[in-house]
Amino acid sequence: MTVLVRGTQLARLLGQWHALPGRRRNPDYLALASSVRGLLADGRLALGVRLPAERELAEALRVSRTTVTAAYRELRESGHLNSRRGAGSWTMLPGGHRVASSGLWTPQDDLDMIDLGCAALSAPPQLVPAARAAAEDLPRYLGGAGYHPTGIVELREAVARNYTERGLPTSAEQIMVTSGTQHALDLVLRLALPTGGSVLVESPTYPNALAALAARRARIATHGLAPGGSGWDAELLLSAVRQSRPRLAYLIPEFQNPTGHLMSAELRERVVAAAHAGGTDLVVDESFVDLPLDGTPVPPPTAVFDRHSRVISIGGMSKPYWGGLRIGWVRASAPQVQRLAAARVGVDMASPVLDQLVAVRLLAEAETIVAARRTQLAAQRDALVAAVRASLPDWQVVVPNGGVTLWAELDGPISSALSRAAEEVGVRLAPGPRFGLDGTLERFLRLPFTLPAAELVEAVHRIATVRYDLDRAPTHPHRRQPAVIA
Ligand SMILES: Cc1ncc(COP(=O)(O)O)c(C=O)c1O
Repeated sequence: MTVLVRGTQLARLLGQWHALPGRRRNPDYLALASSVRGLLADGRLALGVRLPAERELAEALRVSRTTVTAAYRELRESGHLNSRRGAGSWTMLPGGHRVASSGLWTPQDDLDMIDLGCAALSAPPQLVPAARAAAEDLPRYLGGAGYHPTGIVELREAVARNYTERGLPTSAEQIMVTSGTQHALDLVLRLALPTGGSVLVESPTYPNALAALAARRARIATHGLAPGGSGWDAELLLSAVRQSRPRLAYLIPEFQNPTGHLMSAELRERVVAAAHAGGTDLVVDESFVDLPLDGTPVPPPTAVFDRHSRVISIGGMSKPYWGGLRIGWVRASAPQVQRLAAARVGVDMASPVLDQLVAVRLLAEAETIVAARRTQLAAQRDALVAAVRASLPDWQVVVPNGGVTLWAELDGPISSALSRAAEEVGVRLAPGPRFGLDGTLERFLRLPFTLPAAELVEAVHRIATVRYDLDRAPTHPHRRQPAVIA
C-alpha cells in the first residue's frame, strides 16, 4: 500500500527550507529540491511514499506552483522522484539503490566516506582469538537443541558477576541474554509498556530508542538535557516523573548518548524514589558504563537504589567490545526475566550459542580489553576536540569524561543543512534533530570519537570547509546515502 504524504505534512517536515542561514540567493525550486533530498538522506522522509500533488504542496508552502513543478523536475533528474503521468510521484533513490519493504536502506560500500553517523568502535584484536576459542567450547552445547531463551548459563553468570562487582548483587536468574541492547529495549517495552503508554525520555536521546518507542505507539514526553553542566536538571526531572507519572521512563545515566553526561549517585537515588512513588518503571540503558575516561569514577548502578523491582537495566557488548557480536542483556527480577523469555519465544526464540560463547571469552579478558578501549577513546576524543576547536572555533564543545560522543553546539541552527553538505565532501553525520522528537536540536551535532584520530581530524577539516558555504550547488548529488545510526 502506498503511503501518501499530505502537503501540510511535508511542509512541516521541510520546516525553514527557504531560510537556511548562509543560503545564497539560489532559486527557490533548487532549495526546495535540496531540502527534500535532505529529508530523504536523514530518513525523515521515507522511500516509496507518494508526494503531494504540486498544487497541494504549493498551497501548503505558500509558493507558486511553478516552483514546486521545477523542484519535482529537479528531483526526477537527480533520481529522487519517480513520476507517472496521472498517478503521482514517489520518493526513490538514485543509482539503483534498493529499499527493502521495511524501509531500510541498502547503502553501497563507499570507501571514501568517513562515517560519523555510527558511534561504535571497530572490533578489538582479541576478537578473532576469542571466536576461535569459542568454537572449541561449542561441542559442550551440541548435544542439546541449542535454544536458550534466557541465554547460556555461563554468560548469564559472567554478566551477573559484573553487576555484583559494581555493587549490585545479582544472580544468573536475573539476567537474560539478548541480541544486543536494542533487542533488550524492544523486549522490555513489549513487557512493560502497553501500546500507547506514556514514556519519559531525555532530549536529546538515542534515536533507535525513539524508534522502539514509536513501534509501541508510545506517547512520549521529554526531559531536556542542558548541553553543559551536569546535564539533567534534578528538580525538573523529578517533577516530570512525579507530576506526569509516565508508565515508563527511559534514561541513559552513564555517558549519555549523545551528550556524554554522567548522572550523579544522588540523582539516581532520587529518580528511583520518585519513580516508585508515581508507579513509573525505569528502564536504564547502561550501554556506556564500561567507558569512563580520565579515571572518572562511575556512581553505583541505578538499580542499587531500587527496592521494588521498578528498575530494569539493559546493557551489552556493543560499545566496549564490538557491535557485530549482537550480544546484550537485561537485568531484572527473576520473575520478570521469565516473562521476558516467554515474550521472546514469539520473536526470535534465543540468541546464537556461538556468539554467546565468544562473549564469555571476551568478558574473561574484560580488564585488558576495556583498558585499551579507554586509552584509545581518550586519545581520539582529544584529537577530535582539538580539531574542532582549531577549525570551528565558534562551536561549543563540552569535553565528556566518558562514552564515545561529543555533543557540539553549533554557531546556528544548521545541523541538517551541514549534514547534507558534509555528505557531499565524504563525511556522514547524524544531525541534531535525529536525537529529538520534533525537528528541533538544529543547533547541535553529535560527533563520535570512535574512528582513528587521523580520520576524525580529516572529517573535521572537511566539515569546516563546507560550514561556511552550506548552500553551494551539490557536486555529487548522487552520493547521499542514509545509513545506520548507532
Ligand atoms: C544508548 C544506546 N542504547 C542501545 C544501543 C544499541 O546497542 P546494541 O548494538 O547493543 O543493540 C546504542 C548503540 O549506539 C546506544 O547508544
